[in-house]
Amino acid sequence: MTPSDVKATLSFSDGSPSMDLPLYKGSIGPDVIDIRKLYAQTGKFTYDPGFLSTASCNSTITYIDGDKGELLYRGYPIEQLAVQCDYLEVCYLLLNGELPNESQKAEFVSRVTNHTMVNEQMQFFLRGFRRDAHPMAVMTGLVGAMSAFYHDSTDINNPEHREIAAIRLIAKMPTLVAMAYKYTVGQPYVYPKNDLSYAGNFMRMMFATPCEEYKPNDVLVRAMDRIFTLHADHEQNASTSTVRLCGSSGTNPFAAIAAGVACLWGPAHGGANEACLNMLYDIQKQGGVARIGDFIKQVKDKNSNVKLMGFGHRVYKNYDPRAKLMRETCHEVLGELGLQNDPLFKLAMELEKIALEDEYFVARKLYPNVDFYSGIVQRAIGIPVPLFTAIFALARTVGWIAQLNEMISDPEYKIGRPRQLFVGATARDVKPIGQR
Ligand code: ACO
Repeated sequence: MTPSDVKATLSFSDGSPSMDLPLYKGSIGPDVIDIRKLYAQTGKFTYDPGFLSTASCNSTITYIDGDKGELLYRGYPIEQLAVQCDYLEVCYLLLNGELPNESQKAEFVSRVTNHTMVNEQMQFFLRGFRRDAHPMAVMTGLVGAMSAFYHDSTDINNPEHREIAAIRLIAKMPTLVAMAYKYTVGQPYVYPKNDLSYAGNFMRMMFATPCEEYKPNDVLVRAMDRIFTLHADHEQNASTSTVRLCGSSGTNPFAAIAAGVACLWGPAHGGANEACLNMLYDIQKQGGVARIGDFIKQVKDKNSNVKLMGFGHRVYKNYDPRAKLMRETCHEVLGELGLQNDPLFKLAMELEKIALEDEYFVARKLYPNVDFYSGIVQRAIGIPVPLFTAIFALARTVGWIAQLNEMISDPEYKIGRPRQLFVGATARDVKPIGQR
C-alpha cells in the first residue's frame, strides 16, 4: 500500500480531540482511509453494514470500476481474456499473477487434468443425500467433505498444502457437480476423460451415458468455457469475503471454500441465474410477452417485493462487461442450436429490451447482469436450472482460492472480527420463571 501525502482529519462536534487518519493509494481506484487505530485512539467504531464504504483488505487480483463497467483480472481486461485465453489460462493467471507461457500452461493443464478423479468413497457420501436435494445443498456438503478425504492438503499455513488444495479443488469441482447431477437423474456417474478440455470434459461428464458417447459441440464447449472465465473472480463480493473471513480463522481450504459455496447459493448473489430463469418461466406461464407490462409494473411497485432478477448490481452502475460478453455467447449458442424462436428466449430478449428503455431502470442504472444471459445459455445447452449456481461455484472456486491464498500469505493478516453498534437491552436481572 502506498501512503498518500494527504491525511484525513476526523473531528467531533463535542470538542473531543480530532484525529489524523492516514490515506493509502491503490494502483487504481479510490484511495482508502486507514481507520485501524480509530478505536484505540477514540474509543469509537465505524458503522458500515453491507460494507458500502469499507475495504476489507488490499488485493492484487481483480479490479472493478463499476461506473465505467470495467473488470480486470491481474490488470488484463475481461474482454481480452474471454476472447484470447481459455479458462485454465485464466486460473493460472488468478493464482500466479501472470499468464502462463506455453510450457507453463502445458504443465498446469496436466496437473489439473491428473487430479480430476475424486476419491471413490465420495460416491457413497453422495448417496446419503435425497435424490431431490438442491445441487447447492449437495455441493456445500461435498466440498466440505473434501477436507475429510484429502487430509494431506488441509494445513492452510503450509504453502505446499495450499497449492495442492488449489489444484484439487479446481480439478475436482467439475467432477463433483456432474456427479451431483447424475445422482439426481439416477444415471451412472461418468468418469473424467483426460484428453478433453476442462469445459469439454465437464460437459461429457454431465451428458454422456454408458449407452451413448457424448461428442462435445465446439460452440457449446466454448460457451461453457466463457461462462467459467467470466465467473472466475469478482474481487470482494459476498462469497469471496465469506471465504476470506472463514479462512481467517485458520480453517482448512476445503472448509473455507464450502463456506463460499453456501454464501453463493443466495438469490441476491449466485442464485440469481436460477431465480432469473424461474422468473421467466413464471411470466411465460402467466401469458408470456403479453404479461411483461404487468410484471414490470409489479417490479416498480415498492410494496410488491418483486425484483427483476438478473438486473442490477452492487458495483456495476453501468453495463456489466461480463453481461456484454455473455450476451454475445447467448446469441451464438441460440443460433447454433436453432433456438432463436424459442418462446422463453424471445420472452427474455423482449424483457431485456423493455427494461433497458424503462425510466425506472434507466434512472437507477439497472442493467442486465451476467446471470441474466448465463442462465439462458445454460438452459439452451441443456443444463437443468437448479444446477446453474453449482456451475457458478465451480467457476468461482479459483477466485476464492486465489483470494484465500493471498490473504494467508499476507504477513499482516488477522482473524476477521467485525464490531457492532449494540442497541439491545442493557444489563438486567433474570427473574424466577414464575415472575416473568
Ligand atoms: N429490480 C427492480 N428494482 C431493483 C433491482 C431489480 N433487480 N435491483 C435494484 N433495484 C432498485 C432498488 O429497489 C433500489 O430502488 P430505490 O432507490 O427506489 O429504493 C435501487 O434499485 C438501488 O438498488 P439497491 O437494492 O440499493 O442495490 P444493491 O446494490 O443493494 O443491490 C442487487 C444489488 C442485490 C444485485 C440488486 O440489484 C438485486 O437484487 N438484483 C436482482 C438479483 C440479481 O440479479 N443478483 C445478481 C447479482 S450479480 C452476481 O451475483 C453475479
